Amino acid sequence: MCGIVGYQGNEEACNILIDALRRLEYRGYDSAGIAIWDNERPIRLARKQGKVNELQGAIREDDFRGRMGLAHTRWATHGVPSERNAHPHRAGDVVVVHNGIIENYLELKESLKKEGNSFQSDTDTEVIPHLVSSYIRKGNGFEEAVRLSLKRLKGSYALGIIREGENTLIAAKKESPLIVGVGDGEYMIASDAPAIINRTNRFIFLEDDDVVVVRDGTLKITDIDGTEVSRETKHVQWTGAMAEKGGYRHFMLKEIFEQPRALSDTLIGRIQEEQGEVLFEELSLPDMGKMKKIWMVACGTSYHACLIGKQIFEANLRIPVETDIASEFRYRDPILDENDLIILVSQSGETADTIAAMKEVKKKGVHTLAICNVLGSTLSRESHSVVYTHAGPEIGVASTKAFTTQIAVFFMLMLHLGKLTGALDTQDVRRHIGELKKLPHKIQTILDSHSEMEECARRNMHCKDFLYLGRGIHFPTVLEGALKLKEISYIHAEAYAAGEMKHGPIALIDENMPVVFVSPRDQTYKKTCSNMEEVITRRGKVLLFTDDNEHEMSGKVDTVFVFPETVYELQPVLDVVPLQLLAYYIANLLGTDVDQPRNLAKSVTVE
Ligand code: AGP
Repeated sequence: MCGIVGYQGNEEACNILIDALRRLEYRGYDSAGIAIWDNERPIRLARKQGKVNELQGAIREDDFRGRMGLAHTRWATHGVPSERNAHPHRAGDVVVVHNGIIENYLELKESLKKEGNSFQSDTDTEVIPHLVSSYIRKGNGFEEAVRLSLKRLKGSYALGIIREGENTLIAAKKESPLIVGVGDGEYMIASDAPAIINRTNRFIFLEDDDVVVVRDGTLKITDIDGTEVSRETKHVQWTGAMAEKGGYRHFMLKEIFEQPRALSDTLIGRIQEEQGEVLFEELSLPDMGKMKKIWMVACGTSYHACLIGKQIFEANLRIPVETDIASEFRYRDPILDENDLIILVSQSGETADTIAAMKEVKKKGVHTLAICNVLGSTLSRESHSVVYTHAGPEIGVASTKAFTTQIAVFFMLMLHLGKLTGALDTQDVRRHIGELKKLPHKIQTILDSHSEMEECARRNMHCKDFLYLGRGIHFPTVLEGALKLKEISYIHAEAYAAGEMKHGPIALIDENMPVVFVSPRDQTYKKTCSNMEEVITRRGKVLLFTDDNEHEMSGKVDTVFVFPETVYELQPVLDVVPLQLLAYYIANLLGTDVDQPRNLAKSVTVE
């Protein structure tokens, strides 16, 4: 997730764009860049790795005079953070900034290279200015060249495009967010409101396939074919801080609601349903024929994802998987075989224990594969191989969208390995891809019922202890649900395998303890119903989360939240979402610092 801004108006653009970038840095800050045109000289362009401050230090204002320009702050998805991969990207006299993922960039790049184009970066974005320039060379005008190029792109984009010699700023949107700010004698484009809330509160929220043309101070909005469309200008009364969270009260809530998009971005460019394939451009593996064991190692929420990954892999690949907490693994001299595969999971890629575990493994010459959300992070750079979640920056300390996208990556890796080992055939993979593709919409269905969780939170916010119970793949899910609650609300919450209840935890049950059950209609359904009866018999309060509209316990429990069905191994992606919402709403009602809970940090970079 990157941040883009553009300006055309009556004032000098440089400082306006730099200020706008600063307000977007929470969207990513690997590198930043700016391009300014003054109606005469060639477009001035500067790019720097690092934050906006680095960029500002690299430019002299009088060198960057002009009243039209683009700027970009990057969250790397393709191509590590570096100056050469920073935006804006230029080809000929066309300059582009982009937020999103161009799924078919490799094929476009090959075709453009055959036309004689040479590329300077590893990014997907760079194909766009080359495409536009190529269409201009073929005799098309700037605007038409952009439209023809947009029709060749697959994936997601929010674009700003300018060309030397034309006082025209073109913007286009597909799946990635983009808005127009309507100022006094000026127009701006931005990834979202924080960037420009200080210059205007009049916004046009663009829709997919919209194309914006700002030419000589006039605004035109059309569809991709050039037919004008009407879009309402809305007056938004947001403060800057509110706008940074997209109108959400906390980053955590925003990130819970970003999960459909985060999941789509993580799938895009990898799942090939027709071919029954899952491809990872950045993946390298040891010899699968000799592999006897896979290890999955992480901390916190990422460890819970590993517990789910284990069940996904073992159920489908029939390869033994051992999981471990990184801080334990690194000190117990694990018995590794040189043919093993060690998968290390970390949202930040900077967790000290997980990095230390990776180093221990590399010393023994064993292959390491990182699953990370931050390109260029230590773990992603120093592991033999890496697969990225494309969840975008996760600002809230409590991990949410990283967790669900980690599970999606595990599931896709299982499909990929299953084809390699023959454990799965093309039809199996096609069927599973079909289920994967439905997940973003199913998560949205849950999010649309968020008010049920807010009500449940209100009823239970003053309880001092919670017990979370689940079986099978729902045991790690309830571990995650309990962690969410305790780390942001400071309420004691613990999770157990439901079958363990009679081996101790049942002694805790009384009328003051809510017991959360995750109990979809699966192979342990009946057993879990018995557990619920035992809780109810002891006056315990049951909060039931299930995919079964007619759960046999529905009439006996305090709360029932029904989420959509999916295949067993993907259920945690869905059943964790109401648990995230429950934790969030309780913490919000209690007034704790949800995004930065006491004693915690987003990345534990010390032991
Ligand atoms: C999760 O909500 C916590 N913030 C914490 O457990 C976190 O998952 C853990 O510190 C691991 O972080 P990582 O994924 O960045 O390695």
